[in-house]
Amino acid sequence: MEPIGFIESCFKDKFGTPRQPGLVKKATAKLKIRGDLQPAEALQGLEGFSHVWLIWVFHQNKVSRYHAKVHPPRLGGKSMGLFATRTPHRPNPIGLSLVELISVEKDGIIVSGADLVDGTPILDIKPYLPEVEAIPGARTGWPAEVVKEPIHVEFTEQAQIALSKWEQKNPDKALREIIEETLQLDPRPVIYRGYEQKDDAPYRSEHAVRLFDGDVHFKFETPTLVRVTDILFTHN
Ligand SMILES: C[S@@+](CC[C@H](N)C(=O)[O-])C[C@H]1O[C@@H](n2cnc3c(N)ncnc32)[C@H](O)[C@@H]1O
Repeated sequence: MEPIGFIESCFKDKFGTPRQPGLVKKATAKLKIRGDLQPAEALQGLEGFSHVWLIWVFHQNKVSRYHAKVHPPRLGGKSMGLFATRTPHRPNPIGLSLVELISVEKDGIIVSGADLVDGTPILDIKPYLPEVEAIPGARTGWPAEVVKEPIHVEFTEQAQIALSKWEQKNPDKALREIIEETLQLDPRPVIYRGYEQKDDAPYRSEHAVRLFDGDVHFKFETPTLVRVTDILFTHN
């Protein structure tokens, strides 16, 4: 299979990319389709749909050893059969995301809410058919049992100044909302959680997510309070 194109996304690393679609709604992404596929014709009629499925490749997977059981971050360390999860580590590393279709362009589509890293190869687009695919009363398995407290996001004065400058340069991007929604998902790996108030804990560190051209540094003060400490621009 050959990719039909590649996604241009604000999420520059796997770390910080939402774990499912639709969670960071203001994050728009562009899928530019290969010219030889005649995108203007191939996309004709898609504009009538509000949502599309993207089928794609987890091209940044590093570990290739097979594990039948995986540790979903939401289960805080417990394991689950891989086919009962949406883990990137699968026998065939294929991703599936239902995203909102914002617009159809001559050379591709703009979508919002994608959980894909910048540069992800896309294999296919399929329109979402709510009349057959939306199933009222469908059961959710183990994720239904996971209870999560809402997370509050604050900015230090330094981070607030950096954000204001960043916003001035990028008035078309919903930077604050994207930062807040991204951090409210607690992107930290499970091993870092639960040590927020223990000074001597090795895992009580600051992290950074790379959004657009900025590194957003943050620290969890408690499990439900995260503080953005600074925003740095080290990438060209
Ligand atoms: C849990 S998977 C779910 C993806 C998709 N919605 C699915 O169900 O197949 C989402 C995570 O995959 C990772 N990811 C996104 N794009 C990737 C890529 N191109 N290669 C490897 N991992 C990627 C990110 O860390 C993201 O949080």
